[in-house]
Amino acid sequence: MKICVIGTGYVGLVGAAVFAEFGHNVIGVDNNAKKIELIKKGKMPIYEPGLEELVAKNVKNGKLEFTTDFDRAVKKSEVIFVCVGTPSNQSGAADLSYVWSVAKSIAKSMNSYKVVVIKSTVPVGTNEEVERIILANVAKGIKFDMVSCPEFLREGYSIYDSFNADRVVIGGKTQKAIDIIKKIYAKLDCPFIECDLRSAEMIKYAANAFLATKISFINEIAQICERAGSDVVKVAEGMGYDKRIGKAFLKAGLGYGGSCFPKDVEALYRTSTDQAYDFRLLRGVMDVNEAQRTNFISKVKRVLGGSVGGKTIGCLGLAFKENTDDVRKSVSIDVVRLLRGEGAKVKVFDPIAMESSKKELGEVGIQYCREPQEVFEGVEALCILTEWEEFKAYDYAKWGKLMTKKIVFDGRNLLDPKSMEKLGFKYYGVGRGSNGWSLASTGAIFDQKHHQ
Ligand code: UGA
Repeated sequence: MKICVIGTGYVGLVGAAVFAEFGHNVIGVDNNAKKIELIKKGKMPIYEPGLEELVAKNVKNGKLEFTTDFDRAVKKSEVIFVCVGTPSNQSGAADLSYVWSVAKSIAKSMNSYKVVVIKSTVPVGTNEEVERIILANVAKGIKFDMVSCPEFLREGYSIYDSFNADRVVIGGKTQKAIDIIKKIYAKLDCPFIECDLRSAEMIKYAANAFLATKISFINEIAQICERAGSDVVKVAEGMGYDKRIGKAFLKAGLGYGGSCFPKDVEALYRTSTDQAYDFRLLRGVMDVNEAQRTNFISKVKRVLGGSVGGKTIGCLGLAFKENTDDVRKSVSIDVVRLLRGEGAKVKVFDPIAMESSKKELGEVGIQYCREPQEVFEGVEALCILTEWEEFKAYDYAKWGKLMTKKIVFDGRNLLDPKSMEKLGFKYYGVGRGSNGWSLASTGAIFDQKHHQ
């Protein structure tokens, strides 16, 4: 099958490489000439395990090419995947300006029957609007079909997720177009969900919103655990064995971040209000997520005697999650900002996301450490902000001696509390009330009652 993929962000670039690996002939298109030049040189604009090798392999065997020549790419292809960004606008709704302009350009370049597939996460009704735009701009007599085929891959695991998909959702109006997309994914051994355009669009938002709800739910449980003296890690384990609940996405922590959940939850909430419906549960999900980071800062301040002003704090992890250099809407970055805002001097380290973080945080009040052990030197507390696996393997026994005070605030419940305590650390996880401390013991519950 001849395919063109418009947009070389996470979804587009990974999608192009994966389609080529499936055996199709793929052209990746982007209007950013610098990005295309970089990719052509074999350098990836994003950090994604396995991507560079997959791109190189398929470019070499002639299955994959990259270009800025939009018109040629569309003309040569039978199927056009739209994978452009849909960021939030100021009101929280999805900004669809890239989608609209790409739709117009596709229409102008179309010279024969094409299937136009929207992969970008777009609100319900967008595919129909794209269809109207193409109809209004395409040359007479040229036919096309729209398909909504949302993407479910996770950053950091996108190659694995692409070859091990849980399902492929294909929304369309004609069976002919749906069957063409099924052929493209024929190598995958998973259910194919066929539906209408509007349901496919909704599936993507509903799935992300549900996962975000799981995270906020467990974070609320964590808050209660801290007060009641229970351990949220054990609680989640005990809940997760129930197949109806499932183990995934029950990790309490600092809340969800990244380029998808915050944007998509907000956009779905906007869709509900646009339909004159108040999705109350989602409002709660967003509120809880915001509160999680301020709760963390309050805990740090409380334990350090009421303030972090003038104190040096070490932070491990800046990316919005492990295995990526992406810091968009990263809660870790927010926590560093909040600590700095409270007057702390902050030392930071991330295995991959140092450069992208510098652009977000700047240099003032932040010391960027080249090696992880530098973060430990002379700090009054260490905060773990991102769930990088390698943080578990650090030499806390040795590096802890470099700290002024051996206090760890583990915002991702990455470390084992008992082992840390054995090493002489005071350990504070999220929702780990049964591990030697609880909010009650810090006086916080008394404070709260006092303020009521
Ligand atoms: C998410 C979805 O998982 C993908 O299925 C979807 O395709 C993607 O959004 C998208 O819409 O493009 P991603 O944003 O890459 O993927 O990251 P996740 O692994 O889902 O993590 C999102 C955030 O939730 C991270 O900040 C992570 O730290 C947090 N999280 C995740 C938790 O706090 N607890 C958990 O148990 C799981």
